[in-house]
Amino acid sequence: MAKLTLITSAFLALGNVVLGATCGSAGYDPAQYVCWQNQFLCPVVAGEGLSYCAGACYSKFMYQCSNNVLSVLPPATGPFQLTVSNPNLPSIHNKPITASGQRWWINGKTSSYCPEVVGAACPPGNITSIVAGSGGASMNVMVPGGQQVYLAPDWGVGYTQAHSAYIPSGSLTTGFGAYQSGGFVNLNGNGWPWVACPPTASGGGGGLWTLVAKNSTNAASLNLCTPINLKINPLPQGSAGAWQYT
Ligand SMILES: *[C@@H]1O[C@H](CO)[C@@H](O)[C@H](O)[C@H]1NC(C)=O
Ligand SMILES: *[C@@H]1O[C@H](CO)[C@@H](O)[C@H](O)[C@H]1NC(C)=O
Repeated sequence: MAKLTLITSAFLALGNVVLGATCGSAGYDPAQYVCWQNQFLCPVVAGEGLSYCAGACYSKFMYQCSNNVLSVLPPATGPFQLTVSNPNLPSIHNKPITASGQRWWINGKTSSYCPEVVGAACPPGNITSIVAGSGGASMNVMVPGGQQVYLAPDWGVGYTQAHSAYIPSGSLTTGFGAYQSGGFVNLNGNGWPWVACPPTASGGGGGLWTLVAKNSTNAASLNLCTPINLKINPLPQGSAGAWQYT
């Protein structure tokens, strides 16, 4: 996994092209690269100028650099909310991932339900709260049996309905990396990012931007979608987000 996500900065040497900024003696386009130590260029990916660590460019959504040694961030230990990160896409930057209709959406309205009999113990249910571990993820709910998260056959994200274990065939339930103070990464895509696809004129996505995981086969068909990171925002330990998400 590391080899696919890390990009050596040597690979990015751009020679003497002059494009508005210089890094040492090399010209570069600041919209596409960041310069470290006036010497090393790292690309901007999903609006994040990658950081630099002893010869490698890395994403702070997955890695940390300590004493010039790169390591994967520790796993997220508690519940979290996800927000979109791509400062170049201000209309959805910092907006939440929201659960509705057994799918994850971008900046929609969280749909949840709590039986009346549960009463005062019902969580507000208005924030989409997730827990992750061992490569899998679940909705952070109280309903017995829980609600498992999966990468659906179309590589959008789905979750099981309460009281049901049904997952569409061809879905993937593992390969999610959830990193404390980092991001929620789809490791099934061999380094391809999450993308946000704009609402279509035909009404696709119900007027919302949709979340899809890119891969080598769907990349071309998603060329109108923009790479994003999913940032992990920790929520208080021990608090369910909803009785169940609907
Ligand atoms: C969720 O509901 C709680 C309780 O009604 C409220 O205090 C909080 O502001 C709401 N949060 C959001 C994001 O709507
Ligand atoms: C990529 O995603 C598409 C759905 O968009 C899926 O049909 C295909 O199997 C995936 N390809 C790989 C290599 O996993």
